[in-house]
Formats: sequence, C-alpha cells, structure tokens
Amino acid sequence: MKSAKYITTPIYYVNDVPHIGHAYTDIAADVWARFMRLDGHPTHFLTGTDEHGQKIEKAAQAANQDPQAFVDQVSERFRALTPLLNLSNDDFIRTTEDRHKKSVQHLWDVLVANGQIYEGAYEGWYAIRDEAFYAESELVEGKAPTGAPVEWVKEPSYFFKLSAWQEPLLKFIEDNPSFIVPETRRNEVISFIKGGLKDLSVSRTSFKWGVPVPNDDRHIMYVWIDALTNYITALGYPHEQDPKFQQFWPQSVHVIGKDILRFHAVYWPAFLLAAGLTPPHKIVAHGWWTSEGQKISKSLGNVINPVDLVETYGLDPIRYFVMREVPFGQDGDFSKASLIRRINVDLSNDLGNLCQRVLSMVAKNAEGKIPAAGELTPRDQDLLALSQSTLERVREHMDHFQFHRALEDIWRICGEANKYVDEQAPWALRKTDMVRMNTVLHVLIQIIRDLGILIQPFMPESAAKILDLVALPISNRTFDTLGVPLHEGTGLPPPSAIFPRIEVAESVSA
Ligand code: ME8
Ligand code: MG
Repeated sequence: MKSAKYITTPIYYVNDVPHIGHAYTDIAADVWARFMRLDGHPTHFLTGTDEHGQKIEKAAQAANQDPQAFVDQVSERFRALTPLLNLSNDDFIRTTEDRHKKSVQHLWDVLVANGQIYEGAYEGWYAIRDEAFYAESELVEGKAPTGAPVEWVKEPSYFFKLSAWQEPLLKFIEDNPSFIVPETRRNEVISFIKGGLKDLSVSRTSFKWGVPVPNDDRHIMYVWIDALTNYITALGYPHEQDPKFQQFWPQSVHVIGKDILRFHAVYWPAFLLAAGLTPPHKIVAHGWWTSEGQKISKSLGNVINPVDLVETYGLDPIRYFVMREVPFGQDGDFSKASLIRRINVDLSNDLGNLCQRVLSMVAKNAEGKIPAAGELTPRDQDLLALSQSTLERVREHMDHFQFHRALEDIWRICGEANKYVDEQAPWALRKTDMVRMNTVLHVLIQIIRDLGILIQPFMPESAAKILDLVALPISNRTFDTLGVPLHEGTGLPPPSAIFPRIEVAESVSA
C-alpha cells in the first residue's frame, strides 16, 4: 500500500466571515488531498474553526451575543465552505467540541508532568488581532510587526519553557531540510529561533472564553496552544494508540499562510517535543493575496466573498485560477482581468475547445461512438504517451506543492492535442481516409479522457463532466486508468460545452 497522507488547513477564527484567503488555503489542501487519493494514498484531510480567545470573546460582545451562540453561528459559515468549494475534507473540527477540550487538557497535563510548565506573571505587549505576544524590540512605531494594535498586559500566567527548546528545535530543522517549505520561510524561522527564544505565556486570567487550565480555573489556556492541538485531537489524541493517530500523524502536512508561521514552525513543534510527541512532518506556508493590488481588509471594503465569486464565475474556474496564477508560496493579486483571461484562454480556448471540437466531430462523423483505431503512427503514440510521463512530473510537483507547475504540465498535453487536431485535420480525412479519421478521433478521445482524469483534483466537477462525455465509468477514474485503451464502439452522450467564455463587456458592467 502507498504511504498515508494527512493534510490540514489552519482552523479559522470565527470573528469574521470567510473570504478568498481562507478559500485559497482550503482549495490548495483539497487539490492535494484529492490528488493523493487518486494516486492511491490513504488520505485524511482536516479543516475547522478556532473558536476561543479574546478576539472571539470581543466579537461576540460586539454582536451582543453569548460567545457559544456566536461561535455556533459563525462556525457554520466556515462549514458551508465544504459544499461551496467542493472540499473533500474528512473531518471538520471546532475547538469548542468536547473531544478537543479533553485533548488539549491532556496535553497540558503531560507538559506539566514533564516539567515544561511553571507559574509566574506576564508583563508585556499583546496584540488581540494576532492573539500574539510581542517583545518590545519587535514593535514597529508602537504596533505589532503585522500592523496590529498592541496593549500592555500584566497578569498571572503559566509559562511554557520554550527557551529550553531553542537548540533541539534548530537541530530538528537542520536534520529535516524539508520540514518547512518554501526555503525562504525556513530561513525566517531559523533566524527567529537563533535570535533567542523566551519562555512563552500559555495562560490568561483577564477573560474567560477558553479552555480552563486543569486544576486551576482562574486560568484559561492561551488560544494558540488550544488551537494548534486541533491537529492531533482530530486523530484521536490523547489516544495515541488510535489507528488514525498511528497511521496519519507521522505523515502530517500543515498548509498555512505565511502569517502564522511562527506558531506552527516554532511553538507547535516545541510543544510536541516537550510532550514526547513527534513534530509534524511538514509545514507549507503559502503567500498572501491582495485584491486588485490592494491589501484585503474589512475597512477598505474590498473583502472578496467566495459565495459571490462562485456565483459569478462558477467554482472550478476559481479553483483553477488560484492554483494556476500564483506559484504556491509567493504572494499574488486577485484581479478580475487576470481571472477572466485565465478562464477564456486556458479553460475555454485550450481545454474547452479541444473537447468541443473533437466530441462534436465524433457525434457528426462517427455515429456518436468511440471509433475503432487503425494502426497507430509514431506521432499518435507520442501524443498518447504524454499522459503517463505527465503524471510522473505532476507527482513530483505535488510533492513540492508546485500546483502551478502541475497545471502547466497538464496544459502542455492540451497544447499538443490541439496541435495534433490542426495537423491531422480529421475533417479533411473524412473525405479521403475514413480509417485514418477514425484513428485520429480515437486517439483524441483517449487523450481527452486522460486530461479529464488528470484535472480531477483541480476541477472535480468539470473533470466529471468531461469524463461523462467520454463515457468513462466512475470506477475507472483513478490515475491507474491513464493510457489504458478505450472500448471501441462505446456510445457517447451528445457533446456539450464545458467552459463557456466570459464576455468581457458583460463582466465589466456586472
Ligand atoms: O490565524 N491571503 O485564523 P485566521 C492568503 N485561527 N491567505 C489568507 C489571507 C490572504 N489575504 N487571509 C487569510 C488564524 N488567509 C488562526 C489559525 S491554526 C492552528 C489557527 C488564510 O482566520 C491563510 O491560510 O486568521 C492564513 O494563514 C489563515 O487564513 C488565517 O486565518
Ligand atoms: Mg488572521
């Protein structure tokens, strides 16, 4: 059996409604999970919501609601991303669930038993927006380096002995060169750790909305120790013998935005090492989206609502765009013009047209059935061989979270197939050589099928439409089917367009 895969998104704060940034992480994790499943890996995909802490308590107060009622309601909007974005997550975790409270309290007890937690008092800066403590030296013009306002906090607190983990962490990162990707993020983490780690305040006493510290209800746990633990709660922690924990934890991949790197790449592995557990296998930090060149923020009023996007453009074009437009790890800009360009050029012209041209020719000139193939020329064979070699390259790209490269390679097949149509001119062969026309159409249907199979992780619904149009049984849609000969004579349904063009004038006025 192939190795197991465990992929997670951050659990999102429920102080706000979902936007394109959250959708992006979800889509990336979903594409990866779907790819791994189609490639035969047992895969577990987790997302969820982060519901405790001061920021949420304040948001509930502002909404004039009891915190539990408030989080119940907002959490649903994140859960609704699963059908909206066609996510294939196996679980959705909320930090207010019992399973999670038990898990994080157990982790706390283990840390205490291991001598990793002591009582003291915290005095220093705190940014509620980031739910983060900052050293004086990190502030920029009186604000957090993220631009979040900070306030002075002075309260009794438990501390985690983070300072003791400085050297073990550095060693772990050195011994595991691909623990943090991309490289730039890894370097950032290394220099942060080398700058010196101070013990971390891990409990709060000035408000109530959180998981109580075991045996001391004056304290609630710091929201990040609570939140990070979700990744193991979902695998059955504290039952380390749980088969899910055993199978998936060693293969864990946390996909996050670069904004929360420090928590995932420093605090989380330190907590785990201190509790005698293994750190995650990999942390992948992606870049930041702006919208039409501007920072996305509520105050600028340019927050892109995924519900509106999907309504206007359809889901799969959005999934394609965010995966294709920006190399994973780099920042990117979400602009309507580039979205429409991708839809019209890559989807409608390149892939959509290929399917449309070939399938309507089959409907008209081959009785709507998969025609018999005569002898294959080297040219035919070269084109058909592309799907297998592409899968190998795509595998490599997925291992490195290079989604845009994977799509580039898949689209190379599309380009080659379109060239082949033009050069073989099956419409001309109809008058001169029906056997050859049938062979050419046969080859093209096979390549369209292979394209349909390959794009499934990225655009599951459109891929299914394409595979329906070539009458491929649902049970034959994994990567094992790439390159397998077609059944001649199979009747095909009437062709229909997969990716309609977006008329630019229309969308500008919309
Ligand atoms: O940080 N571009 O939750 P959060 C790209 N609860 N990605 C973006 C983005 C943008 N403009 N805006 C948001 C938290 N994201 C914690 C996480 S995990 C144990 C706890 C995505 O609601 C990106 O994945 O602030 C980022 O890391 C995440 O949303 C932050 O979500
Ligand atoms: Mg945030």
